Amino acid sequence: MFSYSQNDLYCEQVPLADLAARTGTPVYVYSSQTLLDNYRAYDEAFGDLPHTVCYAVKANSSLGVLALLAKAGAGFDIVSGGELFRVLRAGGDPAKVVFSGVGKTAAEVEYALSNGIHSFNCESEAELALIDALAGRLGVKAGFSIRVNPDVDAATHPYISTGLSQHKFGIAMADAAAVYERARRLPNLSAEGVSCHIGSQMLDPAPILEAVDRVLAMAAALGAQGDHIRHVDLGGGLGVAYQPGEKTPAIGSFIESLKARLRRSGLAVMVEPGRSIAAPAGVLLTRVLYRKKNGTKEFVIVDAAMNDLIRPALYKAHHEVIPVRRNTLPPITADVVGPVCETGDFLARDRHMANVMPGDFLAVCTAGAYGFVQSSNYNSRPRAPEVLVEGAAWRVIRQRETYEDLVKAETR
Ligand code: LLP
Repeated sequence: MFSYSQNDLYCEQVPLADLAARTGTPVYVYSSQTLLDNYRAYDEAFGDLPHTVCYAVKANSSLGVLALLAKAGAGFDIVSGGELFRVLRAGGDPAKVVFSGVGKTAAEVEYALSNGIHSFNCESEAELALIDALAGRLGVKAGFSIRVNPDVDAATHPYISTGLSQHKFGIAMADAAAVYERARRLPNLSAEGVSCHIGSQMLDPAPILEAVDRVLAMAAALGAQGDHIRHVDLGGGLGVAYQPGEKTPAIGSFIESLKARLRRSGLAVMVEPGRSIAAPAGVLLTRVLYRKKNGTKEFVIVDAAMNDLIRPALYKAHHEVIPVRRNTLPPITADVVGPVCETGDFLARDRHMANVMPGDFLAVCTAGAYGFVQSSNYNSRPRAPEVLVEGAAWRVIRQRETYEDLVKAETR
């Protein structure tokens, strides 16, 4: 929840200029209200249909964020042992955790089994065999779904599109039934569901609906074959508006559009949204260091860089950059760049934006997902702190790293 009152940008009831002056910049700021509203939009839209909203931890894995969602009743979609560790530390319920990913290691599988997670979304037969062996050794039964590759085009950025047979993800639809059949002979596994995830930042729900139809058909066929399929997991992927006016399906109406077919199937449903819950809930605040001109080109040099938010450099992603305090000067067209020594170090290019001066704060918007989590120490820059706002209160949920932190795991 970010909005202007007079000319000052607020997160809920906290004026961001005051916050940035206190914490220093760069700093990530999250609205707990937006996180909860977005989680509840999923939860409430499903209504009485049996469902679990497994927040995709990779989008924003801060303990403060996970704890907030855990308290609201969320389940979690994890892709590593480290993410499970975070979920447990944040008070998440392991019985609502699904473990996704193509490359789970034996140690990660054992860790997940011994903590009693709900199920594994499996992506190969070799992985199923490993899970069966480890479950046998631990004397437990492992729930699994097969992540099928429905071969539909998510029509999104090629790096975050996953549902075509050319991608490394999932098991081909045509092979899946035979894999379930063979898995039935593995004594320590129990087939729980069918899962899919076709891509991220999808603005058109049509490919998701197509994938859902294919997955439901698959689940019905497996039921007829004698597997006790209890749920379908539809993955994540719903897009958000990074640009003003960009059309995105609202969470509630998107889920409504799925409900009739899900109800007919009689199956429970899981979803794994990350971005649509966390992205609109966060901004990255940065301070203008310098203005400069090279020829006719105008640069706004700020104290946040590609190591803090890599999405513009990596995906040519657009993030709105708005002033924390609006002024009345005529707007400019500029590149917003950071201190890292790379031409790819930009937050915005040729941007029509506020005429900000050194010392002013800017907010890089829609940065609550895949922001801090993809940050690094490149150029030996300590990573930014993270702040969670709740109404008129705010608290640091992750401290700014120090120079000592940079070298604490190293020896000379
Ligand atoms: N489930 C699975 C199996 C996934 O691979 C992903 C995301 C999600 C759920 C959550 O998808 P979401 O609802 O957040 O779209 N770093 C990229 C995004 C990578 C997404 C990877 N998988 C970015 O900054 O855009």
